[in-house]
Amino acid sequence: MSEQARASFGGKLSAILVAAGSAIGLGSIWRFPYMAGENGGAAFLLVYLLCVFVVGIPVMLGEFAVGRATKLNAVGAFRSLSRPWRWLGYNGVLGALFISGYYYIVAGWSLEYMVNSFGQLYSSGDSFTSQFALFQASPRQAIYTVVFILLTHLIIVRGVEKGIEKASKVMMPALFIILIIMAIRVALMPNAIEGYRFFLKPDFSTAFSAETIFTAIGQAFFSLSLGMGCMVTYASYFKKENHLTSTSMSVALLTLLVAVLAGLVIFPAVFSAGLEPAEGASLIFITLPEIFKDMPLASVWSAIFFLLLTLASLTSTISFHEVLTAYFAEEHKFSRKNATRITSALSVALCMLTLLWHFDIDFAGIKLENISFFEIFDYVTANILMPLGGLLTCIFVAWFMKPDFLRNEITNYGTLKGRVYPLLRFALRYVTPLLIVYIFLKNLGVF
Ligand code: PFF
Repeated sequence: MSEQARASFGGKLSAILVAAGSAIGLGSIWRFPYMAGENGGAAFLLVYLLCVFVVGIPVMLGEFAVGRATKLNAVGAFRSLSRPWRWLGYNGVLGALFISGYYYIVAGWSLEYMVNSFGQLYSSGDSFTSQFALFQASPRQAIYTVVFILLTHLIIVRGVEKGIEKASKVMMPALFIILIIMAIRVALMPNAIEGYRFFLKPDFSTAFSAETIFTAIGQAFFSLSLGMGCMVTYASYFKKENHLTSTSMSVALLTLLVAVLAGLVIFPAVFSAGLEPAEGASLIFITLPEIFKDMPLASVWSAIFFLLLTLASLTSTISFHEVLTAYFAEEHKFSRKNATRITSALSVALCMLTLLWHFDIDFAGIKLENISFFEIFDYVTANILMPLGGLLTCIFVAWFMKPDFLRNEITNYGTLKGRVYPLLRFALRYVTPLLIVYIFLKNLGVF
């Protein structure tokens, strides 16, 4: 692609849909409810909302500015603005690799649950906990992971406009419709009110602990695909007329909406079935089937929900795949096809590594049974690489670059009013970085 004219997304709506497609995924539908379940429900929701506005939107705008101004992949973008800052681009590439090492696995679970809704899931009579454990120990897990990587590969190989843009335009609206139907269905279940109370009525005594804020910032970065070069890469395909501020606001609001809708589906359902909200990573895979099984047409509801999760995951996997594909194509001069192949092959290798350790297999005589790559990849990306990438992006855009750089991108070179610019600059210079540093240090026990 490097020799051809660079691709770009169609118009305003396309830019919003593809960026929202990246943002909305397992993060909002799988990760957010279980983080909220483990961290006080409504209290977590409140802090998460604040993090999205105070940290998420400014960082996203910083990334958009860097991507669209340079029209390059994450490493190339930072390098072209200042050579030493290319390391910030590499932080993104590393983050995209780490996330590839486990995200496809969870996406594969949703694919298998979708298919299995019509299989044994509701007919075997085994408990869902044991079915989940059995599935995790079977090679099927590896197969679904690889299938998911292949699906992603097929979209990416078609290119930016025909693949990413087209897929997002169909999948994102479908996702909203399915979620709304589910939320209405769940509202009719007995005892749903308990779930609403847990999710919507904050207990302020737990809301502002350093741990909650740390987790919420990590969740905000994860769910908005920030600090990983993803929004830099996507914005490199934006047109010069795209309005960055309204795009970032729309992406953030749509992501919040999906997370809240997911909470409104999951918590009433969990309470209605007398289950535990703090179930952890398996929350939706164990508790939701428990709920579906008592509904008429259990398999159909279940398949619809997991289809939704699969679609949402797919618009996210293509985005971090694209971070790596654009990097290999532009920095190492591979053809787009080969860059896609390399990325997919690396993703398969990393996921297999994660799964091997997950299976607890004795690998070349080294047994790392107490180390879970799954948890390491998730923790390191969400809680270290992404906030670090976000922090450095603030410093780069608001302290290192001249003020004109951000102003030009926000106002489209003077054609828009850019009323938010002073506020944005203030946030990027002081509020957002100080908050991230404070929370980092506090969590390390420095205060
Ligand atoms: N935002 C995605 C989600 O919430 O599922 C995950 C993600 C995609 C993170 C792309 C980072 C990224 F670059």
